[in-house]
Amino acid sequence: MPVEPLLSESEIRDRMAALGRQIEDDYRDRPLTIVAVLTGSLIALADLIRQIRIPLRIALVQASSYRGATTSATTLVINEAFAPDVTGRDVLLLDDILDTGQTLAALVRHIHDRGARSVRTAVLLRKVGRQVVPIEPDYCGFVIPDAFVVGYGLDYDDDYRHLPYVGILSQ
Ligand code: XMP
Repeated sequence: MPVEPLLSESEIRDRMAALGRQIEDDYRDRPLTIVAVLTGSLIALADLIRQIRIPLRIALVQASSYRGATTSATTLVINEAFAPDVTGRDVLLLDDILDTGQTLAALVRHIHDRGARSVRTAVLLRKVGRQVVPIEPDYCGFVIPDAFVVGYGLDYDDDYRHLPYVGILSQ
């Protein structure tokens, strides 16, 4: 399927550098753990952490939502096999895209419950007009139109993650 470029490699690189500076200033002398949500935020994680010149730890969580067979309610299943203890840590939760906000809001609650000292959120992308859960990301890369996007970690059916830019997938 054709992909129409939306954010170029250099735009993303510049924005990541700016976010890195901001995070570095905000978390100086604090025990920072960046918890990245698999799989979409892996590329953003790799690029962002190399722009942050203060000590930090990284952790990974997986969140999958399942729609009930008989209801439209969705259940979020959180797998934290690769998440070390965050007790007493200042956690920055990193996701690829804020869409309805359900995933991020549930993960924030979950990490608070795990004993983190603070929890903030960072997203590479935020789609306009889609949010149903009121959550304001503390750090946001780009606000984008309501379209299905791929690349720089984001997938369609597990393809396109390796594209170095973000593009709109024409269906
Ligand atoms: P919610 O709705 O909980 O969902 O904010 C966030 C998750 O939905 C996926 N998502 C997308 N994935 N292109 C993608 O590749 C998109 O345009 C898109 N919109 C939502 C993504 O997994 C994200 O973590």
